[in-house]
Amino acid sequence: MKKTIVIITGCAGLIGATFSKYLLDNNYHIVGIDDLSGGYMENVDARVKFYLQNLLDQKAVDRIFETEQPDYVFHFAAYAAEGLSPYIRNYNYSNNVLCSVNVINCCIRYNVKKIIFTSSMAVYGTGTPPFKESDIVSPEDPYGIAKYTIELDLKQAFHHFGLNYSILRPHNVIGIYQNIWDKYRNVIGIWIRQILDNKNISIFGDGAQTRAFSDIKFLMAPMEKLMFEHNGEVFNIGSDKYCQIKDVALIIKDMALRNGLKTDIEFLDARNEVKDAYCDHSKAKALLGFNDDTDLERAIVAMFDWARSVEPREVRQIEYEIHKGMYSYWK
Ligand SMILES: NC(=O)c1ccc[n+]([C@@H]2O[C@H](COP(=O)([O-])OP(=O)(O)OC[C@H]3O[C@@H](n4cnc5c(N)ncnc54)[C@H](O)[C@@H]3O)[C@@H](O)[C@H]2O)c1
Repeated sequence: MKKTIVIITGCAGLIGATFSKYLLDNNYHIVGIDDLSGGYMENVDARVKFYLQNLLDQKAVDRIFETEQPDYVFHFAAYAAEGLSPYIRNYNYSNNVLCSVNVINCCIRYNVKKIIFTSSMAVYGTGTPPFKESDIVSPEDPYGIAKYTIELDLKQAFHHFGLNYSILRPHNVIGIYQNIWDKYRNVIGIWIRQILDNKNISIFGDGAQTRAFSDIKFLMAPMEKLMFEHNGEVFNIGSDKYCQIKDVALIIKDMALRNGLKTDIEFLDARNEVKDAYCDHSKAKALLGFNDDTDLERAIVAMFDWARSVEPREVRQIEYEIHKGMYSYWK
């Protein structure tokens, strides 16, 4: 029997790499597209038919769709550095809006059965947590604006062309394959890298910010389910268990000490970020069978062990488009 063909954009990143393996193990044929700007080839399963391609090139993306004729598309590729996004507006909108539009165009042209798009909790901005899908969205930064733009564009593409879609709004997903060499995003990854580099763990502000981290493994089955159900629906997905950032830093510090690595917690100037951010997941639990049971300490240890097992990579320095008001620690 012919296998279902699924294109996964961002297949070298955390969610794309993990989900590719999950679908491969469940007998799907996976075509992966990634430009390796934020992910690594080592993350890509050997069974993936891989295209090294920037999605900004509409013609090249079109050729991939024409060759592969996918049934479904999971569009994960993005540059998700929320705090940095005001300083890289062009890059943010090119990567997160125009690239997405190129993928959506191809889904329409090649009659893809459905596209699943990862938006973000960032669309809620400074609303009152726990954020619900029914809340009025109010993104506060260019990253969140880009994600919400694509949510609206998908709605339009459905009404105009009948393109089926579902939207996920994940938050603070962790796991192996996360890019821990990016100083602008993925707080737990940043701390693990700092420990391995014999540096202190840095916290922006007083560390009282609340976030809820979820182990990526709990997202897999619900994401697969979305291929066949709940067209046009939006789902928050992630952990209910929120905690203050400084408490997570203590877990990591203890883990470092247990491993003979000395580190301390260093508080840096606060940056412009949402203080409390976590979501209500009752919709995903009821309709997708989502059940997050993240053991934060265990998930962090798994990431730490993985980080120690791979070659250290260069920390990326992004070219800023705006220098005005740039935080001292990113200069
Ligand atoms: N991980 C989270 O906690 C989280 C939370 C909210 C939303 N999301 C969204 O989920 C998606 C996946 O997140 P992730 O954590 O796996 O991110 P990631 O950075 O680990 O992976 C993204 C991948 O996309 C690739 N990519 C970026 N721009 C590209 C381009 N122009 N062309 C081709 N490939 C490109 C990168 O190289 C990378 O491998 C993203 O859309 C992100 O915005 C993630």
